[in-house]
Amino acid sequence: MKRLYGIIGDPIEHTLSPDMHQFWYHQDHVAHHYHVFHVTKDQLETAVQGIKALGISGCNVTIPHKVAIIPFLDDLDDEARMLGAVNTVVNKNGKLIGYNTDGLGFLRSLEHHQKYHLPDHPQVLVIGAGGAGQAIALTMAKYGARCVDITNRTIEKAVKLSRSCQVFCESNGISLTEAENGLEKYDVIVNATSIGLSEHDSLIPIPIENSKSSAIFVDIIYNFETKWLRLAKQQGKRTLDGLPMLIFQGAISYKHWLGHLPKLNDMDAFLRNKLE
Ligand code: ATR
Repeated sequence: MKRLYGIIGDPIEHTLSPDMHQFWYHQDHVAHHYHVFHVTKDQLETAVQGIKALGISGCNVTIPHKVAIIPFLDDLDDEARMLGAVNTVVNKNGKLIGYNTDGLGFLRSLEHHQKYHLPDHPQVLVIGAGGAGQAIALTMAKYGARCVDITNRTIEKAVKLSRSCQVFCESNGISLTEAENGLEKYDVIVNATSIGLSEHDSLIPIPIENSKSSAIFVDIIYNFETKWLRLAKQQGKRTLDGLPMLIFQGAISYKHWLGHLPKLNDMDAFLRNKLE
């Protein structure tokens, strides 16, 4: 049977999710459709009721609704409960269940890149304690990091997030200066702030120089190569942009909806082509 899926957010024009999911529907020979729904904050509750009323099978949730949607859902899975945010809703016979695939999407994207040969229990620095930083820090902490340190412009948020991570591993909320001085410690250094989001942004999240030679620099921005990743590459560091994370979070959502993971082989090239 043909089903309807979609994404709700504001702004939402530049999302790659429809291209990605339609590609997978085509690949899997199913006739489902993935629609973009522009939903403002004041329309959120009505929009969620609409998912039920219209029999929409599921949707992705993006900025600014990932936290605000929770009271309107019928249940949450463990990952969404831990992160306090939802990026995927499944309509199970009229009950709306919230999931979060952002953190696992990040983790799988790191693992997938075999060339990175991560240590089994890496030491991780997360720069940014907003929604994305939380998902990444908590997931890395839960799934095997030896230590997850967090730094953030507003340090209180980094300290608060580190307390939640301490349930799983060693974790500290630290200042940017402390992070910079101790950069040598980390195997994975992640930018989860919006620094660099504009192509002409001259700021970088943290200087690269003091890091160890095997460190991996990850920026979750995927629209273009950020100045920070370009500099890291120039200094011979290993880098990973945000596109694989986007693909893996999408693939895990797809599995929640259709029951199996899509084939991922061609997606990276397909989306990079769209971004050109
Ligand atoms: P997201 O859901 O994408 O993570 P968010 O929750 O708004 O978005 O978080 C944005 C992150 O970028 C935060 O860590 C924010 O730092 P604050 O908590 O201090 O606001 C960070 N950020 C945004 N602009 C920044 C800037 N100019 N310098 C440093 N950090 C910045």
